[in-house]
Amino acid sequence: MQISSVFTPRNSDVNLKMYVPRLNLENALLRSVNGTMHSLLFGDSGNGKSWLYKKVLEQNRIPYAIANCANASRFKSITEEIKSALVPSGAAHKTGYTENKEATVKALVAEGKLAHQNQYAVQVAEPLNQAFSAFRQRVRSGTAVLVLDNLESIFKSSELMDELADIIILLDDARYAVFNIKLLIVGIPNGTLEYFSKTKNMESVANRLEELPKVAGMTLPQVTTLLANGFKLLDISLSKEDLPFVAAHIHHITMGVPQRVHEYCEKLAYAVSDQSGGFRRELLIAADREWTRIGLRQAYTVMESHLNSKRTSISRRNQVIYVIGQIKVHQFESNTILVKLRETFPATTTDTGMGVGSILGDLSTGDSPLLSKNTKTNSFRVIDPRFVMCIRVALFLDPTSNSVEKKSFAY
Ligand SMILES: Nc1ncnc2c1ncn2[C@@H]1O[C@H](COP(=O)(O)OP(=O)(O)OP(=O)(O)O)[C@@H](O)[C@H]1O
Ligand SMILES: [Mg+2]
Repeated sequence: MQISSVFTPRNSDVNLKMYVPRLNLENALLRSVNGTMHSLLFGDSGNGKSWLYKKVLEQNRIPYAIANCANASRFKSITEEIKSALVPSGAAHKTGYTENKEATVKALVAEGKLAHQNQYAVQVAEPLNQAFSAFRQRVRSGTAVLVLDNLESIFKSSELMDELADIIILLDDARYAVFNIKLLIVGIPNGTLEYFSKTKNMESVANRLEELPKVAGMTLPQVTTLLANGFKLLDISLSKEDLPFVAAHIHHITMGVPQRVHEYCEKLAYAVSDQSGGFRRELLIAADREWTRIGLRQAYTVMESHLNSKRTSISRRNQVIYVIGQIKVHQFESNTILVKLRETFPATTTDTGMGVGSILGDLSTGDSPLLSKNTKTNSFRVIDPRFVMCIRVALFLDPTSNSVEKKSFAY
């Protein structure tokens, strides 16, 4: 078995041998698809949204087709992309533009189902009808799913979001409902429903959408399973003590993001195969370095630029950065950091504010800030999860002095 066919960080095809079950998410998705509303699935990039819906739909033999909103953005039309996803390429357009179809659109407008009769309402309704019926002819009866993946790529376009809103409302009309096609809208951002708050017909759109639980990082047991399965396929053995040790390390630095877990395991597997004698814990150092090099190089540079360059006895700034890497919340106030500082560095902290507020302020300014500051709530957020991964993999506490040290990955 090849390492690259076991650990597949960006492969869009689901490898069932490596798929780690996520029962809560899988059940929620299946129930939603079988329910009456359209479904919204979101989560940060690399967290496994695409693998999740492919696995669930295939396992349950629910026919589906994927339209990519990034293409819609290129075509400047969602309808065009849906057409190319649903109508097999090369299929001739059987029907032309008929009086009848135009009448349907007019009726929809008159009934107040479509907001307005402009050019695109007409342009959308007719080709959609064609695309849906082509899809229906290809698949058996029952629910069929049209996935609209990468919603984030059209969010900023109010025209495309309006078009999507129209499509959602259109699908509810009896003349389109006969196709029994469910939308599964997939994207990166949080609170995807808010996306629609700016579109017209916001309420009727929101009424038809169900937001699924967020696809977050994997839990420690899931990361352990992924690591164990992959190494087993590759015939690399890990002892009873090493497996949880390595899994905890990977879970911590990757924040459980499945894509990152695959990346790391791949690097570790290469480190093991580059020498004889199987797994040894020292190999984690090489894996850390290689993993940082492929995906975190830029983040590493940014983090480095914020560290105290001069070695001072305390290096408060470095302590603060270290602590930011260890906290679990996305948004935090300076007090959270203060508490954590006292906990982690009891010998060097005092009862005062220790300048934490201004250090956090510094980390939020400059050309490549680490944090962003919300001035309304006085809270901070790490700009990119990769910064946290980088802090976690590259900074460590010296066991004797308890000072913050940096692994230097010389590239
Ligand atoms: N359940 C899983 N078990 C094992 N590996 C997984 C699982 N889900 C995802 N992965 C791994 O993570 C990678 C990224 O997953 P996926 O492409 O589904 O993420 P995504 O959330 O769709 O990301 P994006 O928003 O960038 O499209 C996959 O290529 C696969 O290697
Ligand atoms: Mg995806």
